[in-house]
Amino acid sequence: MSESSVLRVGLLGFGTVGSSFAEVLAASGREDILITRIFNRGVERKRSHERAKFLQPEVQWIEQAEGVIEAADVDVVVELIGGLDPVGGWLRAALKVGKHVVTANKQLIAYRGPELFDVAAKANVQLLYGAAVAGGVPVIPGVAQGLGGDEITRVSGIVNGTCNFILSSMEAGADYGEVLANAQRAGYAEANPSADVDGVDARAKLCILTRLALRAEINPDEVPAQTISAVAAVDFAYAKELGCTIRQVSRSQKHGDKVQARVGPMLVPTTSPIAWSHGTQNMVVTKGRFGGDVVFSGHGAGGHPTAVAVMSDVLAIAQGSAAVRLPTKHAEVSGEVSAPYYLRFIVADEPGIVAAIAGVLAKHHINIDSILQHRGHESERLPFVVTTEPCSSAVLEEAIAEMGAMPFMLEPPLALQILVVDDKDTD
Ligand SMILES: NC(=O)c1ccc[n+]([C@@H]2O[C@H](COP(=O)([O-])OP(=O)(O)OC[C@H]3O[C@@H](n4cnc5c(N)ncnc54)[C@H](OP(=O)(O)O)[C@@H]3O)[C@@H](O)[C@H]2O)c1
Repeated sequence: MSESSVLRVGLLGFGTVGSSFAEVLAASGREDILITRIFNRGVERKRSHERAKFLQPEVQWIEQAEGVIEAADVDVVVELIGGLDPVGGWLRAALKVGKHVVTANKQLIAYRGPELFDVAAKANVQLLYGAAVAGGVPVIPGVAQGLGGDEITRVSGIVNGTCNFILSSMEAGADYGEVLANAQRAGYAEANPSADVDGVDARAKLCILTRLALRAEINPDEVPAQTISAVAAVDFAYAKELGCTIRQVSRSQKHGDKVQARVGPMLVPTTSPIAWSHGTQNMVVTKGRFGGDVVFSGHGAGGHPTAVAVMSDVLAIAQGSAAVRLPTKHAEVSGEVSAPYYLRFIVADEPGIVAAIAGVLAKHHINIDSILQHRGHESERLPFVVTTEPCSSAVLEEAIAEMGAMPFMLEPPLALQILVVDDKDTD
């Protein structure tokens, strides 16, 4: 804070969230928080951005990050560029010279959080990242501060709005390719949607949540992530018959010294709040030993909701509030779970298929719960479904590999975990 009690902000990145932050700050009427410098490439283009009108005329536009990080008239660096490099080096340098840092960068906090928290602690400054998970939904401060007193044993939910938009549109009858193209046109999905649909974005967020909720440091690269791109319209029809829908769920829970963590499309009972999230909404459910289940929900993305979380972090710094930092331990990830599964096969129909599949499952000691086959499909390309009783995911994988190699199988079988809701669970 400067001597005049004004908190001077140096902004890195004037894109969707950066420009929305300028608008939210202007709307707050806070004269004690001022954007003094903005770094972005090609600043001439940014000066004429429609939201540049929310800035003070004296703001300095800069094309070198150092011009913000090292500036004497910057107390807090707000980073809204994204990615690991070069941003990681810039933020480390900013913390070292005594600037507070606020960021929405989930990859950086997931992969390099502990190192940066240590640099911040040594420099006696704050590193806040409330926008890094679930955008405008206050999951990060809620779990860190609001639930810091509980022992959380499981965290699960929907943390990728793009996947939720795609899957909830498919639930309403849309086709995967069509809805992905619509999401790209509407700006919800990138031209290369892999980070979203293959679970890369969600697993970074799951690691941040796991650190805060389970107090365990896990490596994002070790978290198994299953793509949603193999889910088809027919799966929603069968899921409905089972009292479920399909959502990309990110989930981690303690398992001895390890953390069971996974991201992927799962069958979610329609009685679970996770099934009720539609469009780009995010939803996180924590399970506390003493406090029970807590549900966070709201807009997980978009310039304005995300800027609200950034603004809240800046306000906390202006007020001199210190972030709660609880000790964490490194933990190995176990992708292995015991759960019931939904298996969908597309086959060229012939006698003996069900017996062949049942034979493989029996060989691996996997019990069948139900067999579903809707009428009206062509026998040359027949979808049918088997649900199993709870079984080991590793054993199931072996069985799937065996079944996938059978001559009548037209595409690799799809295996989706079925979330179980019992009386004590919300998710
Ligand atoms: N958008 C959301 O809904 C949302 C939600 C939660 C978290 N976040 C996080 O917020 C951060 C910002 O996201 P965003 O959606 O605002 O992205 P964005 O619209 O692409 O904005 C990024 C800004 O940074 C600039 N930039 C990128 N690389 C740069 C570089 N190497 N040097 C200088 N300037 C550079 C871009 O300039 P150009 O215009 O030249 O590309 C752009 O102005 C990311 O960490 C993202 O993960 C976003």
